[in-house]
Amino acid sequence: MEKREQAIEYFECKNLPSGEYRELCEKAQRVLPDAYSAYSGFSVGAALLLENGEVITGTNQENAALPSGMCAERTALFYAGSRFPQVRVRAMAIAAADRNGPVKEYVAPCGACRQVMAETIRRGGDFDVILCGEERTILLRASALLPFPFEDSKTVRLEEVF
Ligand code: THU
Repeated sequence: MEKREQAIEYFECKNLPSGEYRELCEKAQRVLPDAYSAYSGFSVGAALLLENGEVITGTNQENAALPSGMCAERTALFYAGSRFPQVRVRAMAIAAADRNGPVKEYVAPCGACRQVMAETIRRGGDFDVILCGEERTILLRASALLPFPFEDSKTVRLEEVF
């Protein structure tokens, strides 16, 4: 049975041990002004590091019909799935800002994004997630965010397809 890594590590964002992950956090923070958060005033940025070295970013995009909006994480994951369907995700950084600026405490992804992340794990394997807060950043494995995702019996793993 696949071993699920549950360890969570806490850092100050600027003290993340991996330079690559510090950079990924910065990329998630840098796209925050591109969020369209006219209704909530809460902006979220996501940056995905793919196994081929590509970085895909996404922001939340809201809509007057509120449920028609989309979260930053799913914007990035769906774009990565469309642009590089056979490339594994290595890591995802998530940053957020409210009307007062970048959040001090990390923000964790919503349930729908976790379910989509679970599908990403199913296709290409587990990956690191960095939840970037100015004062508190956490590093954990994506599988720790949703221990019991919905899974039907039809989906095949990436390595069975390619
Ligand atoms: N949001 C995200 O982009 N990601 C999440 O994981 C949770 C929430 C967005 C949706 C909405 O545009 C705003 O944050 C406030 O809920």
